[in-house]
Amino acid sequence: MPETIKQLIENNRRWAAEISAETPDFFTSLAAQQTPEYLWIGCADSRVPANEIVGLPPGEVFVHRNVANVVVHSDLNCLSVLQYAVEVLKVRHVIVTGHYGCGGVRAAMSSGQFGLIDNWLRHIKDVYLLHQQELERIEDEDARADRLCELNVVHQVRNVCYTSIVQDAWKRGQKLAVHGWIYGLSDGLLKDLDVTVSQPDQLPAVYQYLGS
Ligand code: CO
Repeated sequence: MPETIKQLIENNRRWAAEISAETPDFFTSLAAQQTPEYLWIGCADSRVPANEIVGLPPGEVFVHRNVANVVVHSDLNCLSVLQYAVEVLKVRHVIVTGHYGCGGVRAAMSSGQFGLIDNWLRHIKDVYLLHQQELERIEDEDARADRLCELNVVHQVRNVCYTSIVQDAWKRGQKLAVHGWIYGLSDGLLKDLDVTVSQPDQLPAVYQYLGS
């Protein structure tokens, strides 16, 4: 094994030993069950590690990450995570977290081609088009990209809410709030975008399922 990879295993040994020294039954009780209250949907970017940013240990956050924290209604991966989190784990909060300086968002804003991922980033181009006027009034390119990072979060929060998974949970009377946050790479701080949705009447009527 290369030295750098070996180092990771050694880091792990030390980490596990430290936690066990402090809380001897930490791993055995976690192994028995997980009861996280939060589902985090974030960017795959290495600089935005879910648990560390919010200071939570293993067992507290269920996590789904992809390029540019996109929630697509035909993405089986994201939907499966969402279904398990809502229906089995019964999380109380879904938090969509974007970040400023997101490479995926910036690529979506450009006319460059980047391969297969162009098809994934298309979802963000759609967000751009919906807010084209506002975005193109922002002259500074970094500021414009950062605003698109925020708008992308807003739309992905809505996409989570539009799923039958979340709507069914609300119909059952399950308490579930969906939040939109954005993280600053340069200061390590989270900002709440104040777009929390916790009941279906906050959504456009066409997206509200009332049953057959
Ligand atoms: Co990103």
